[in-house]
Amino acid sequence: MSHFAATCRRISRAPRTLVSRVLSRQRSTATKRDQWFVDYHSDHARQVVGLRDKTDERLKLFRVEDIAGKRVLDAGCNMGAIVNHCMKLGARQVTGLDFDSAAVQRARGLYSDPTSAFRCDDLDNPLAALEPHDTVMFLSVYGTKELEDRNSILSRLAGLSQVMYFEGHHGDDPRDYAWVLLKYGGFQTIEFLGYTNDELREDSVGRPFFRCDRKPRDVGFLPGFIADHSHIDATLKVAVVGRSGAGKSHLARQLADDRRCEGVTILDDVNDPDRIHAAQRLVLFDYRAGTYIDQIDALFFLDVDENVRLKRFADDPVRQDDYNALLRTPPVRSNFLSFFRIEARQDG
Ligand SMILES: C[S@@+](CC[C@H](N)C(=O)[O-])C[C@H]1O[C@@H](n2cnc3c(N)ncnc32)[C@H](O)[C@@H]1O
Repeated sequence: MSHFAATCRRISRAPRTLVSRVLSRQRSTATKRDQWFVDYHSDHARQVVGLRDKTDERLKLFRVEDIAGKRVLDAGCNMGAIVNHCMKLGARQVTGLDFDSAAVQRARGLYSDPTSAFRCDDLDNPLAALEPHDTVMFLSVYGTKELEDRNSILSRLAGLSQVMYFEGHHGDDPRDYAWVLLKYGGFQTIEFLGYTNDELREDSVGRPFFRCDRKPRDVGFLPGFIADHSHIDATLKVAVVGRSGAGKSHLARQLADDRRCEGVTILDDVNDPDRIHAAQRLVLFDYRAGTYIDQIDALFFLDVDENVRLKRFADDPVRQDDYNALLRTPPVRSNFLSFFRIEARQDG
């Protein structure tokens, strides 16, 4: 009985212990260095020299249609070179936000303009007024020491925007970032655009750079993507995952007949490591493909309306519940670079 009472006491104390741990001692606190990120950007027109000197390399990756006429937020804007670039591209309004007071002062001095504003604030501040924007820049900020809760900040910023440009840090593996963006961003698309190699340092190996958006895409996007990338990439490994009954086999047959996919190996539910390894250009259809193919350049998730899927399996209650098996088995792991969600055809 005394054992029972002790157990009850322990259980009833547990939540309080947990809350107090969260609110006090055990909470992780970031080291916030103020007046630290000085001389970060170069701006040759203003005779300013900074670490990111060959800034053109990075600026070329922004798509004009994501910026012209749009409301843009640059989260972690430093001295404002990206804000300035967005203004030049015709943004309707640009807000730069940074924790570092010296950087914000510098930005205000360099780039004051009626269409832009610079705010000194902390992205960790839960009361920071982050309004919806069309496009959010989150460039080389995610891994800095000044962020306490980087994944929730990434989620909040992603939720504010239709398009996000995301840059990682020097020498980091882009596949890790693709995974983080998939987990916390809720995007329809995560495109790896390459490395931004613009730093004034001899050992520069570049920073992984991504564009993410929420634009819906249908299955017609896939053959176009393969055709575009076949010109550029000698090897291209694509996996198409999605619930059983989404229409993967149907799409695989369509692709096999599509002239744009000539020379591409198309495998439907064939988990054969030798053939997967040997193929230079490959599209692999299998709901588990993302878990066993080693390295994937692009991962497509074929999405289907659940009611349509159930209708397809009207006479097959066992397959109706295949989806549960998919949920128990993680359908992808972090071994891809780009991600696209595509809508399956809804008829039949
Ligand atoms: C490496 S610099 C990148 C600057 C800029 N985004 C670029 O890519 O050119 C990182 C910037 O993020 C800012 N930063 C880091 N943590 C922050 C936070 N918690 N809130 C606001 N800004 C933050 C730093 O002050 C710094 O200016």
